Amino acid sequence: MKIAILGAGGKMGVMLCELSQAHLCEVVSRVDIREGFDLDISPEVEGVIDFSFHTAVPGFIAKAVEMEIPYVLGTTGLTDEEQKAVDEASLKIPVVQSGNYSLGVNVLLGLVRKAAQALDKSYDIEIVEMHHRHKKDAPSGTALMLAKAADEARGGDNPFVYGRVGQTGERPVGEIALHSLRGGSVIGDHTVTFASELERVELVHKAQSREAFAAGALKALLWAKGRKAGKYSMLDVLGM
Ligand SMILES: NC(=O)c1ccc[n+]([C@@H]2O[C@H](COP(=O)([O-])OP(=O)(O)OC[C@H]3O[C@@H](n4cnc5c(N)ncnc54)[C@H](O)[C@@H]3O)[C@@H](O)[C@H]2O)c1
Repeated sequence: MKIAILGAGGKMGVMLCELSQAHLCEVVSRVDIREGFDLDISPEVEGVIDFSFHTAVPGFIAKAVEMEIPYVLGTTGLTDEEQKAVDEASLKIPVVQSGNYSLGVNVLLGLVRKAAQALDKSYDIEIVEMHHRHKKDAPSGTALMLAKAADEARGGDNPFVYGRVGQTGERPVGEIALHSLRGGSVIGDHTVTFASELERVELVHKAQSREAFAAGALKALLWAKGRKAGKYSMLDVLGM
């Protein structure tokens, strides 16, 4: 399959280019705003993997719609308007979107859903994520995915809070809190804590290599090829 990598000069892009051959994909467009890369998706491309920057997504996905090719979106931190462009594109082409393409995090998602259902609201949910100092958005797309999964499992009406400072008052029942740590070269750690007055459950995932995300994204693109238009998640790809 002839593919385009968007954000090809970035940390994820480099890993995707390295791994593509092992997944029987040929990278024919290495697109990035950095010098020495392609500016656009070439006409022979049969599928796109996007790990670039949120502002670039609407333009690139419009091009994929024009070309009628599948789109795997890894880029996080999209505004509501950018997300709307993605949702509209998914009416015309297959779009896989996930805040995390690793197998482990998708298993964690299922565990969080189960725990949030089994443990009632006397178990407070706190999510802590840590990433490298270069990450540009917060909280991470993965932390948001985990928070949404927990929220849905508990009825879908739980307020989110992003960090705390000052006179916050007592913690409201049902609140789901997200906290972001940044530093060094951490690839991506996520901990979901369920804390009651009696005990604490902690579910933890630590990414050891970006290869986990890149391999998942390539798998997702091969899966999306030839599928009907729609918005898919990594859980669909993994059949979970
Ligand atoms: N979904 C996942 O599994 C997952 C995993 C890791 C990272 N990410 C996300 O993927 C994105 C990239 O992550 P990264 O760590 O590789 O970042 P990075 O900063 O190392 O790479 C991003 C690349 O995109 C390029 N870029 C910026 N604007 C562009 C534009 N308009 N057109 C083309 N290229 C452009 C940059 O020059 C850079 O080379 C981030 O949003 C990150 O949060 C998602």
